[in-house]
Amino acid sequence: MQIRKVTVLGAGLMGNGLAQVFAKNEGIKVVVRSRKVRDEPYAPIEKNLDLLVGKKAISEDEKEGILGRISFTDDMQAAVGDADFIIECFPEILETKQDLFRDLEPLCRQDAILATNTSVMSITEIAAKCSNRGRVVGTHFWNPPYLIPLVEVVKAEDTDEAVMDATMDLMRAVGKKPVRCQKDVPGFIANRLQHAIWREALSIVEKGIADPATVDEALRYGPGLRWPILGILENADMVGLDLSLNIQSYIVKYLEDSHEPSKLLRELVEKGDLGFKTGKGYQSWTPEQIEASNRRLREYLIEVTKDIK
Ligand SMILES: NC(=O)c1ccc[n+]([C@@H]2O[C@H](COP(=O)([O-])OP(=O)(O)OC[C@H]3O[C@@H](n4cnc5c(N)ncnc54)[C@H](O)[C@@H]3O)[C@@H](O)[C@H]2O)c1
Repeated sequence: MQIRKVTVLGAGLMGNGLAQVFAKNEGIKVVVRSRKVRDEPYAPIEKNLDLLVGKKAISEDEKEGILGRISFTDDMQAAVGDADFIIECFPEILETKQDLFRDLEPLCRQDAILATNTSVMSITEIAAKCSNRGRVVGTHFWNPPYLIPLVEVVKAEDTDEAVMDATMDLMRAVGKKPVRCQKDVPGFIANRLQHAIWREALSIVEKGIADPATVDEALRYGPGLRWPILGILENADMVGLDLSLNIQSYIVKYLEDSHEPSKLLRELVEKGDLGFKTGKGYQSWTPEQIEASNRRLREYLIEVTKDIK
């Protein structure tokens, strides 16, 4: 299935970012549907594009091309009537997403794909009120979606293989690195990995083995340098599975295996220490440090993703 028209539902943080992602492909027109089109609807997308132009990741002409392929409307029927691929970026509320997909079905084409950008919810549950569940698929983008290449394409219980294939092809066509998640499980693939490390990181701090800044240094200057090149299982193949088994047999009994959120995390949240938004989380942050951290991340991502093909 050749996808030429993509409709993005919801013009919040992810909706705007995704419009920009899909419009990167010259053969795709993007419609963003929001309840009320704001006064300067292109402003958030233009801001991202200006950053990319400033870093020479795209040209001024490419920026104009992307903006020219995006339009905004508050009319749901006009937005979805002839769309090939519809992706929802509504708030993370199960019933809202279920009702949206149920209500969309009579408005859109029989063969339109319905994708959800849910962070954690079951795609099978989101599809529950649809009559054609085979067309519903999960597409978990990561923020900022125009910089992070990963998209987890998630197969729900009833998702058609053809829908999975078409979605994978679309993601590649807009320059993303899609991965196929064959089971509709909480956390899909990447969040399960991330949360396993998070749990151990917090346990290390709680046990007084190292402070938060040291935990981050250990990751940033150690395994974190390998992962973009090898991943974690290719790295194990490089090391040798016999050695891996000996190491795992010894260490696994010492690792955190709690099924509760971290006590430390709970205490900090109860105190109102929420991280950058309050200036204190695991560490204290000045406004300058917060600004520098956000800038460093964006500049790094632009640099390392420039040449990903
Ligand atoms: N923010 C992230 O880092 C991130 C990353 C990956 C996935 N997601 C997921 O993407 C989805 C959207 O997240 P976001 O951060 O863009 O949220 P957001 O709050 O920035 O945007 C939600 C948009 O939906 C609109 N909206 C709310 N209720 C609506 C309704 N009933 N009808 C029509 N429009 C409605 C809002 O006006 C807003 O424009 C969520 O499912 C979220 O879990 C978010």
